[in-house]
Amino acid sequence: MARLSARRIALNALRTWRKEKRFADSIVSESLVKAELIESDRAFAFELFYGVLRNLTLLDFWVGCLRASRVDADLRDVLRLGLYQIFLLKTAPHAAVHETVNLVPQRQRPIVNGMLRAAIRRQGELLARADAEPLFVRASHPKFLVERWQQHFGAQYADELCQWNNRPAPVYGRINQQKIDREEFLRLYPDSRPLTRNPEFIEFDLIPTEAIRQGHCYIQDPSTAIACQILSSRAGETILDACAAPGGKTAYIAQLMENRGTIVACDRDPERLQILKENMARLGVGIVRIFDHDWTRGHLPTEIASMAPFHRILLDAPCSNTGVMRRRVDARWRLQPSDFVRMQQRQLEIICALLPLLKQEGTLVYSTCSLEPEENEQVVQRALTSASILRLEEQKRSLPFQDGLDGAFAAKFIRSA
Ligand SMILES: C[S@@+](CC[C@H](N)C(=O)[O-])C[C@H]1O[C@@H](n2cnc3c(N)ncnc32)[C@H](O)[C@@H]1O
Repeated sequence: MARLSARRIALNALRTWRKEKRFADSIVSESLVKAELIESDRAFAFELFYGVLRNLTLLDFWVGCLRASRVDADLRDVLRLGLYQIFLLKTAPHAAVHETVNLVPQRQRPIVNGMLRAAIRRQGELLARADAEPLFVRASHPKFLVERWQQHFGAQYADELCQWNNRPAPVYGRINQQKIDREEFLRLYPDSRPLTRNPEFIEFDLIPTEAIRQGHCYIQDPSTAIACQILSSRAGETILDACAAPGGKTAYIAQLMENRGTIVACDRDPERLQILKENMARLGVGIVRIFDHDWTRGHLPTEIASMAPFHRILLDAPCSNTGVMRRRVDARWRLQPSDFVRMQQRQLEIICALLPLLKQEGTLVYSTCSLEPEENEQVVQRALTSASILRLEEQKRSLPFQDGLDGAFAAKFIRSA
């Protein structure tokens, strides 16, 4: 009975996602988190919802193999859920069919029952047919995205990247050394595993609610540290974190500055700024001044202007998120081929707005969690061409299939005197 609830909740969430076109994470926090489920059922509902979203094209391929005629969208969601359990989650076939059939009205039960039973009977054949499909079907990514990755990274890495995106992401956190030192953290949270290549980061099996509540750690991928580290901020400086919310990088920069100096944290999203504010309080960051500002609109607030010029500016830019698709499960289904150039224009526009605020010999770090040259190397080249006062000092990136972490890019510019 409890399992049925988990399936019902996952189905409702899938329908909401399809109809309302909202972010998957926001649907999860609304419907799944609030649902009164025991922990294992909640985890099962999460698994079903995100698992189906990760495998949409493949599941629809199998729906197409099982039924030549049109399948209504609501029914398709149920079939996706059933086939996900049978083929990918390897749920006991009887339970998968029985519980999935129970999700639909009486009149649809024979269709769902018939199709899922046929899927079980034809399992070997259907798996083999899927294996023969091109990567974008097998790994359920938009065709244009797979083709561009094949072009940029080669067939092998494109394949690995798609597989990477389809595996649930580990839970990584950064030890917040403003509140606790590393040894004490590891003693207090023995379930955490330190990462050898990134000693400030730890891995957990489950979300460490107590460590988060205490402000002892912040959940973030180690790749997010790159931009903060090359910013090289020092205690006592005045830093602008231009697109700061929800504050993962702000808090790390504050730690690197030993909580001395000033960080002006801006963002255009008031809700995310509220989360930033709460995060700073929990993490014990006391040097942040927060402003709601859109760098592509309106006048610069005098409070921000009065703090310029800044020693260093971090622009952690809005981007396509192609480096973090294992975490933003539905990001792949939102992207359009024209988005990369559109994002590039916005990224350059923000850089232009920030340059006058940077001190001579000051540092600007531009970062994204995108893997796309339009948003990374091309932005750097265009910024250098259009702003002769900038020189490029350093460029770093993390690639999932090479570095085993989320994708990230960071470029460090110096403003010439
Ligand atoms: C990659 S996220 C920042 C993540 C953040 N640095 C962190 O580490 O937690 C990009 C942020 O840019 C903000 N943003 C997008 N366009 C903006 C604009 N024109 N002006 C100011 N903020 C913007 C978004 O609201 C979003 O919070």
